[in-house]
Amino acid sequence: PLVSMKEMLEKGKDNGYAVGQFNLNNLEYAQAILQAAEEENSPVILGVSEGAAKYMGGFNVVVSMVKALMESYGTTVPVAIHLDHGSSFAKCAEAIHAGFTSVMIDASHDPLEENIAITKKVVELAHLHGVSVEAELGTVGGQEDDVIADGVIYADPKECKELVDQTGIDCLAPALGSVHGPYKGEPNLGFKEMEEILSTVKLPLVLHGGTGIPTKDIQRAISLGTAKINVNTENQISQTNAVRQVLKDKPELYDPRKYLGPGTEAIKQTVIGKMREFGSSQQA
Ligand code: G3H
Ligand code: ZN
Repeated sequence: PLVSMKEMLEKGKDNGYAVGQFNLNNLEYAQAILQAAEEENSPVILGVSEGAAKYMGGFNVVVSMVKALMESYGTTVPVAIHLDHGSSFAKCAEAIHAGFTSVMIDASHDPLEENIAITKKVVELAHLHGVSVEAELGTVGGQEDDVIADGVIYADPKECKELVDQTGIDCLAPALGSVHGPYKGEPNLGFKEMEEILSTVKLPLVLHGGTGIPTKDIQRAISLGTAKINVNTENQISQTNAVRQVLKDKPELYDPRKYLGPGTEAIKQTVIGKMREFGSSQQA
């Protein structure tokens, strides 16, 4: 069923696993991720950035597509449709009214007071609709769609506490050295801060930039309250590599189903691997 993230993340936090957020880029991603979740009997979060929603035809198209696929597949595992890095109250409201079951309001680039004010407004509307809310503090490095950061700023534990206490959000993404897209070298995650944040805010934490984080760091983050891990680039790379290989091997192909199919299978296998690594398999 289509649900908010609230319950699945609290269960994950209490039982020592994280639910993956896998981003949608088109129909094939929705197919691959929903199939992987059902096969693994895992809860799942379908992340949709504003750019990806625009590419697919808008929030309504995304919701209709996901609902229709779930019906066609007979999906039994909990699924959340989540706005990734929502840029404004208006965008969050639009997603909520289109049927998203979860939203992220990313006002992390604003001063704390403004971040709190915008996030609070989003929470008020979202909770009226049974929709969960994620907020961010600090800066995730790298670039995702139009979200560009030139530096990585670690979230401040005191500010995290203030944001959580004043807004009533359901989960918090404290940027602690993770990066969107591939890492240059090993990531240097702020586990000390993560521990401090966990002990003061007591909410499920979210780790952005899940691509390229070594398993030992994933496990440590989960042990410190991380209950949601976002992955996008890794699926894109595995899909693109598979498609590139088929086109190279069979230059006579022109039927998109024949070259996109292997790409979809590659996404599915990557997602299955993540669900096992994050511990969410068999937890639906
Ligand atoms: O919000 C989405 C994620 O943080 C994706 O990060 O593309 O590095 O896996 P990634
Ligand atoms: Zn992100």
